[in-house]
Amino acid sequence: MSQITPTSKRSGTPVHAAVVGLQWGDEGKGKIVDLLTSRYDCIVRYNGGANAGHTVQVGKERYALHLIPSGILSSGKINIVGNGVVVDPEKVLDEIDGLRARGVEVGANLRISDRAHVVMPYHKDQDAALEELLEKRSGKAGASGSIGTTRRGIGPAYSDKVRRSTALRMGDLLDHALLLRKLDAICGLRMAELEALGATVKPLVPKELADRFAAAGERLRPHIDDTVYLLHDQIRAGRSVLFEGANACLLDIDHGTFPYVTSSNCSTLGIPAGSGVPGRMIGKVYGIMKAYSTRVGGGPFVTELLDATGERIRQRGREYGTTTGRPRRCGWLDLVAVKYSVMVCGADAIACTLLDVLSGFDELKICTGYRRADGTVTDRFIPDAERMHGFTPVYETLPGWQRELGTCTDRDDLPVEARRYLGFVEEFVGIPVELVSVGPERTQTFESNERFAAMR
Ligand code: GDP
Ligand code: IMO
Ligand code: MG
Repeated sequence: MSQITPTSKRSGTPVHAAVVGLQWGDEGKGKIVDLLTSRYDCIVRYNGGANAGHTVQVGKERYALHLIPSGILSSGKINIVGNGVVVDPEKVLDEIDGLRARGVEVGANLRISDRAHVVMPYHKDQDAALEELLEKRSGKAGASGSIGTTRRGIGPAYSDKVRRSTALRMGDLLDHALLLRKLDAICGLRMAELEALGATVKPLVPKELADRFAAAGERLRPHIDDTVYLLHDQIRAGRSVLFEGANACLLDIDHGTFPYVTSSNCSTLGIPAGSGVPGRMIGKVYGIMKAYSTRVGGGPFVTELLDATGERIRQRGREYGTTTGRPRRCGWLDLVAVKYSVMVCGADAIACTLLDVLSGFDELKICTGYRRADGTVTDRFIPDAERMHGFTPVYETLPGWQRELGTCTDRDDLPVEARRYLGFVEEFVGIPVELVSVGPERTQTFESNERFAAMR
């Protein structure tokens, strides 16, 4: 990977970029952000919370990041947790301690928005209680009703943000009296809500919570900042910014497979609101696509493989959640979904990850359309679970390849069938595959300046 700072050809000013997942999460965003970090000055999370699990492998060291941007593993970068993120203060402290224990510098290089909303323990209780209630009603996780959340309190924390009167922001943790006043108003109502959900929890004592979270706030004080001014000061000074999406486009609250989504705008559309940086400042969007599909939790998944092929992908791809350890549902690549995400996110280029996992199959399938229950076919994605009932995939079948890809360092090293597979993606989706990842390590990645489609 070349070590350049990307500049706009026209004005010479830095081009800010975004990394976003084009499927249902776990596409390898952490790995790609870590790789691209050398080219940018600031790395910014703008959405989600500790529901994200971004894995970065540096040599033998493997890091799982949940709230802190993946840029933290490179020195000399400013890592920003934007106002659109929901922060679990104790989780972020654990993450800071864990990184420091492994020799990673975490100091002034980590800035957390004073306006990011706080995930409190009662949010996690609410999340779990609602999921359990709905699971009991429907019989199993992910069946109609329960979402199959990570139980990290994400939905309830964003609900409080939208409700306003019961919300806490990171800046509130720095003022004990204010925090206590707010918790006094919140706790009674929250107990009633938890009881209505059938949760058995200890009474919420405002003073206890205020003491506990003001203490967390004190430890986080050196990191808490007005990140909107910070970012604009950096941009004015000519520094470049890389936005790190968490979750993924098909989990976006507005544009994903509703209601089986998360509670934030995790497509690139969340960047302006979640960071305070206008969308028009973003010059390049990298859409991260794994070479097949996975999802965790409930919801539509047209190309899901419930057979030995799905199990083989799960084993080869080690498809178990970074955050919850749950086995991920696996299936063939769904280009109807990917093309939709490219459109919504305005992706300019694809980074294709986990291509190595597909070695050893005689043939590979790619979904190019959905057949509805009445037999008609559509090439449009429908971001609504109710309206995707009964959809089955229309596949193109491509020849597979046998060779392992982990040592490929260049597009020409790839078997011709792998190049054709990527060429098919480019032609169908309409944007180039610029990065190819063939293993979890930084070094197992290469750039391609020529289109794969030209080689088909
Ligand atoms: P994220 O949430 O999008 O950052 O993705 P996760 O870290 O949750 O999941 C991706 C997993 O795939 C991690 O275990 C990565 O180490 C691993 N990974 C990333 N790229 C590749 C690749 O090209 N090949 C293989 N085999 N593993 C990869
Ligand atoms: P990264 O950033 C995969 C899924 C959950 C669940 C739904 C809602 O690692 O790609 P939530 O806890 O957010 O209310 O759960 O969204 N989900 C993810 N799945 N990767 C993620 O993040 C996810 N973040 C949320 O499994 O189905
Ligand atoms: Mg993940």
